[in-house]
Amino acid sequence: MNCMDREFQVTIRQTGERFSCSSKESLLAGMARLGRRGIPVGCLNGGCGVCKVRLLRGKVQKLGPISRAHVTADEELTGYSLACRVAPQCELELEVAGKMQKPFFKGFVFQTGQVPTK
Ligand code: FES
Repeated sequence: MNCMDREFQVTIRQTGERFSCSSKESLLAGMARLGRRGIPVGCLNGGCGVCKVRLLRGKVQKLGPISRAHVTADEELTGYSLACRVAPQCELELEVAGKMQKPFFKGFVFQTGQVPTK
């Protein structure tokens, strides 16, 4: 690993899950290492929108274009992006959004009293 390829911790606010992700890989690739059901394997090129997330804290770098059909310019200004098309530039906190919410939370066992937030 060189100074341009660093690992950062990413937290999913709704579940409290954490995963590490390199500054050279997509958030979706890092998320997939959680190794659980509900993490979509879509087009992986910003076109299908199944990996929509909202960044709550931290900074990302775009790895390529994203479809405006799935993330509008206004949404992007409020933190929405596609996990397959961005890489972390620091420690991040995000929430799962859009089409990914239903499969992501299906079967996930929350701690007593914990409820997923939108
Ligand atoms: S996997 Fe299709 S937009 Fe991310």
